[in-house]
Amino acid sequence: MSAATGSRSGERVAICPGSFDPLTVGHVDLVRRASQLFDRVVVSILVNDQKTPLLPQAERVELARAVFAELTRVEVETFDGLLVEYASRRGAVAIVRGLRNATDVEYELPMTLMNRHLRPSLETVLLPIAIELGHVSSRLVKEVWRLGGDLRGLVPPLVEARLRDRRLQRT
Ligand code: PNS
Repeated sequence: MSAATGSRSGERVAICPGSFDPLTVGHVDLVRRASQLFDRVVVSILVNDQKTPLLPQAERVELARAVFAELTRVEVETFDGLLVEYASRRGAVAIVRGLRNATDVEYELPMTLMNRHLRPSLETVLLPIAIELGHVSSRLVKEVWRLGGDLRGLVPPLVEARLRDRRLQRT
């Protein structure tokens, strides 16, 4: 294991953790940006969250794998428990999270500082996402979906199709 890189292979690994329920175009922008900064980016989908998800974990994993299939530096897996412990097991040097606005800073900063308290050697990189995606969040996408709105441009086409099918099943 290399102390400088944190990874056995010498790769600089970053974790992009989240619920990804559903994966949005904002997530895609963030993961693309992260993949330009690190050798390997692990999109890490939280399991056992207390919230009832819109999409089951297996579908979130399947969709993320399909969406990121062409990004060779990106892989997708699930995690549970403490993020810093999982990140250490993965040999990660950083956690990457996206920022859209001041509300995100308020949400992210305490988590960043807590993670630093728990594991000082693990950095968190807060990356501003594309300015035109400032309105895109999984929470609002779910609301638009629930109320029958058009999700094109908010989520990748594969996710849009899956959510459309799911809405048809409900009607
Ligand atoms: O997409 P989300 O729901 O905003 O992602 C939140 C996530 C997964 C980053 C956060 O809930 C998390 O890190 N969970 C792991 C539990 C943990 O380590 N908590 C203590 C440090 S804040």
